[in-house]
Amino acid sequence: MIAIENVSFSYGEKSILRHVSFAVENKGIVVITGKNGSGKSTLALLLSGMLTPQNGMVIINGIACTDYEGFETAKRDIGIVFENPENQFITTSVERELAFGLENHCVRNKQMRSRVEETIKQFSLEDIRYRSPHTLSGGEKQKVAIASIMILQPQFLILDEPTIFLDPSSRGMIRELIRELRKTVSIIFISQFPSDILLGDKVYVLGDGTLTGPVDKKDMTETEMYQTPQMKFLDILQNSGFYHGKDIPRVESLCKLIVDSKKQ
Ligand SMILES: Nc1ncnc2c1ncn2[C@@H]1O[C@H](COP(=O)(O)OP(=O)(O)OP(=O)(O)O)[C@@H](O)[C@H]1O
Ligand SMILES: [Mg+2]
Repeated sequence: MIAIENVSFSYGEKSILRHVSFAVENKGIVVITGKNGSGKSTLALLLSGMLTPQNGMVIINGIACTDYEGFETAKRDIGIVFENPENQFITTSVERELAFGLENHCVRNKQMRSRVEETIKQFSLEDIRYRSPHTLSGGEKQKVAIASIMILQPQFLILDEPTIFLDPSSRGMIRELIRELRKTVSIIFISQFPSDILLGDKVYVLGDGTLTGPVDKKDMTETEMYQTPQMKFLDILQNSGFYHGKDIPRVESLCKLIVDSKKQ
């Protein structure tokens, strides 16, 4: 179980979280959503033991991450994937990337090979196993980043907006992958996309330094589901199949799309 108890955190004078308590227990997906800058990534770093709160405690499987020893223990149980997987890659091929973490965990050669093969199969990485991670598409990069964490068999997987830079089809692919992974690992999925939010068994909303929830998805207000009006606009455009860009389109490009569609 990961629990944070009465946690407050600030960067200097800037208060980010105030007396937040929260626990993740069973397998399944816990979604955390919230506006840009609400502190989602800060919470992810606290949950993974990479930041220490000024007040309160982060407890991972009964061990308080208040010192270096606690953090080292916690690290083994938790895997974290960030929005930009590029920063996570260290080696020059997908299969080496998968083996890298196991080497660090001193897994024996024979066992390492079989775990790498299993993971390649599980994540359907056969066609890209010899490619450099840096040459992959955005969706493939994120899949490899998740696979290279999952090969270490963490108990908890924290995903910090893993689909934010992806196009809708890659986002759908990662969503499917997350749906599969929920059977083997407890997932904390940070996202602002409504279709991702709907994947959560429990949903929490971060805002004004507090974490609200679990909220019933059915009862979520439009503001909670769509953290900004722009997100709603983007979601409607993408789901209609009319627009496939990953960023909110500028008025000019939207007008051009409309004019072009009339011409067809
Ligand atoms: N190392 C840091 N030092 C100072 N301020 C920081 C630091 N990291 C983040 N912040 C600030 O803390 C606030 C919360 O940041 P955080 O990245 O946790 O939010 P977020 O909800 O993940 O945002 P986003 O949706 O943009 O990813 C922001 O205002 C951010 O600028
Ligand atoms: Mg963030």
